[in-house]
Formats: sequence, structure tokens, C-alpha cells
Amino acid sequence: MNETIAKKVYLRTFGCQMNVRDSEVICGLLKKNNFILTENPHEAEIIIFNTCSVRKHAEDRVWSEIGKYKKFIVDSSKLSDKKLRTTNHEVRTKPIIGLVGCMAQAYKEKVFTKAPQVDFVVGPNDIHKIPEIISKIKSMGDGYSLFRQKIYETEGNLRPEEIYHTGIRLDKEHAYVIISEGCSNYCSYCIVPYVRGNLRNRNYKDILREIEETVDKGINKITLLGQNVNAYEYDGVDFVKLIELVNAVEGLEEFSFITSHPKDTSIDLFKTMANLEKIKKYLHLPVQSGSDRILNLMNRGYTRKYYLNLVDNYRKIVKEGILTTDIIVGFPTESEGDFLDTYNLVKEIEFDASFIFKYSPRPFTDAEKLPDDVPKEEKERRHEMILNLQKEISRKKKSKNV
Ligand code: SAH
Ligand code: SF4
Ligand code: F3S
Repeated sequence: MNETIAKKVYLRTFGCQMNVRDSEVICGLLKKNNFILTENPHEAEIIIFNTCSVRKHAEDRVWSEIGKYKKFIVDSSKLSDKKLRTTNHEVRTKPIIGLVGCMAQAYKEKVFTKAPQVDFVVGPNDIHKIPEIISKIKSMGDGYSLFRQKIYETEGNLRPEEIYHTGIRLDKEHAYVIISEGCSNYCSYCIVPYVRGNLRNRNYKDILREIEETVDKGINKITLLGQNVNAYEYDGVDFVKLIELVNAVEGLEEFSFITSHPKDTSIDLFKTMANLEKIKKYLHLPVQSGSDRILNLMNRGYTRKYYLNLVDNYRKIVKEGILTTDIIVGFPTESEGDFLDTYNLVKEIEFDASFIFKYSPRPFTDAEKLPDDVPKEEKERRHEMILNLQKEISRKKKSKNV
């Protein structure tokens, strides 16, 4: 890219660890193309939002942040010099605004109707195109961009391997390494497979190369990332084999992995975890619900009994292993009895931490077709009950450890 049009970019990240790593990848690609990253949105000429669609609340936060830039299109139409006086009387040209990530994929070109101040929309599987898209928009001229051509890219299904090897890491202590993209589980409440696509596993040789590059940079703690890491398989190398290979990387000190799906988590994995010295004795195993009826409606592929048994094995095999979970309350048709099954499961297992979410209907999903019939106040009550229970458990565990 031409040096003279190098511009300052501010990137804001919403959502999960996958998005944190994706943002780092985007920053790497931008830096390679002579863009300059800034922490200050007020001095940025390009503002990118890397977004999350997992719950409506996550999307609302993004719409509200982007809403702050609406004033540019309202007021700047009155200004001949195409600049806007902002509230603190600074005169600014409208920044180029990009919405990327999971919401981009969910809304595609509809983003431009909802938020005309947005100039480009790029889905998770097209992020490698971002530098080129910005350059194209820049070449259309500075300033007021309501009538600028809008660009959207949401058709990609393969990420080029090179994007993971830009050599740019923002965190100097710890690195995320994506082992698989997308998800093919289609849990009935979840939008992820629709916005990230079906599961694609990276070649384990590329994963190991990325880890070696990271260690060479002096970062020796890593987390392997995937929506369901246990489903990993490439050329006969499954997840258990992969962690053995990772453990053998010279210079690596410690590693962990997220997220594990109970239906694909094996006793073999626990045995390997117990034996590998570099792996953190930590398992994030989302249960979602303690009711078999709800688990079935969620399309999770396991029962309460299966989950309890799995946890039992984990604790027997991986001594002192930490265990955390995700829970959804207020899934369609969840009765008081179903909820109590979840409550009692939390009580029985005593997780080290639980992340509790109120069910939020999501577009494209099967559960969206079911009535969202647990009232808001009831979802809140159930949410708070488990939250308080978990707090009590955590307090008890802490006092035991002191
Ligand atoms: N792949 C991971 C992460 C998925 S999203 C996994 O399978 O665990 C993280 C968490 O968000 C999920 O575990 C689930 O508890 C929650 N979640 C997903 N969709 C949701 C929805 N529609 N409403 C409320 N919570 C949801
Ligand atoms: Fe969503 Fe289920 Fe896939 Fe997790 S495993 S990303 S909850 S579909
Ligand atoms: Fe959100 Fe996308 Fe992650 S929907 S939770 S940012 S995969």
C-alpha cells in the first residue's frame, strides 16, 4: 500500500476470546499494510468495531456505540467543508467506520440501513480483506461519506493461513492460538454456526508453527481456541494427540484450551491432561442446563447423568483440576422443575466458577421458533438465584484454600 495514505486506525473488540484473537490478526494485517494503530478513537481516521451476536444485549451495545457516530451524517450534510464540529468543539472529518465480525455476518448489507454511518461490513471469514477494503474507500476521497460507496464482504469460507503469521502479538505475556474455526454443533439457541460457519480444523503443522513463532517472540503461555476443541481432527491427529504435540514444543511453559463440549470430551483427554506437565489443570465444560428435557431441546447431545459422570472422572483423574461452566436460564418452556434441576446440579458439582446467561432468542436458530415464554422477571430471578449460589460456593472454596 502507498505510504502517503497511511492512516490511524482504532479497533474496538466485543465478544469472546475468538474475537480478541481475530482483532489481533486484523491489527497485524493493518500494520503490515502501513496503517497505524491508535488507542484514541478521537484521533482515528478509521474506526473498526469487531462485534458479537451471541445475545441481543451484546448487539445492543454495538448499535449504541455506533450510534454515537450518527451525528456526523446528520450535521455534516449542512457543512460545505465536509467537517463536523463535535461537542468539544473539535472540527473533524467523518471517520471511516467498519463493522466486522459476527454481527457483520448476521446483518450483512442491512447494517447500512440500520446505521448509514457505517462504510464497510466484513464477516469473520473475510477479515483478511480489511486492509484492501479500507484502501479502496480511502481512494474514493476523504470526508463526508454518506454517499460513498458501501462495501460488504460476507461470502468467504476459508481464511488464508498466512493471516495467523503476521508476527504481531499485542499481548506480550500470553497468546491465543486458534485451532479450529466455526462450529457444526448447532445447539438450538446458538447463532455461532450461522455467523462463523461450519467447523474447519487448521492443519496441526501450521498450529505448531504458530506456537513456535510465538515462543520465539518470548511469549511462552498460550491458550488453544475453538468453539469445541474436542472435535479437532486433522490427518489422523485428534485433540488428545494435538495437546501432546503442543506440550512437546520447546520453550513453551504453560498452555490451556477452551471450549470443551461435554459430548466430545473423553476420559482419554483427562488421562493425557494429568500426564502432561505444561498443561494447566483447568477445564471449561459448559453444561447449559441440568434438565434432560431442556438439554434435549437445546440439542446438546448428552444427559445430566452423563455430565455428572464426566465431571466425576475429571476430578478423579485430573487431581485438583479447576472446573468452570456456562449456564443458560429461561430457555423456552423451562419450568420451575427444570430450573431446579440446574440449580441442584450447580449445588452438587460446586464449580469453581459459573457464567450464567439469560436466554436470548437469536435469528436463524431453531430455538427462535419456540415461544420465548419465560418472563423477563422470572429469567432475572433464576439468574440471580444461581449467581448467589455460585458466590456462596466460591466463598466456601476460597476459605478452604486459605
Ligand atoms: N462454543 C462455546 C461458546 C459459545 S457462546 C460453547 O459451546 O460453550 C458462549 C456461551 O454463551 C454459551 O456457552 C452459552 O451459555 C451462551 N449462549 C449462547 N447462545 C445464547 C443465547 N441465545 N442466549 C443466552 N446465552 C447464550
Ligand atoms: Fe454454539 Fe453449541 Fe457450537 Fe458452542 S458448541 S458454539 S454453544 S453451537
Ligand atoms: Fe460472540 Fe461471535 Fe464469539 S457471536 S461469542 S464473538 S464467536
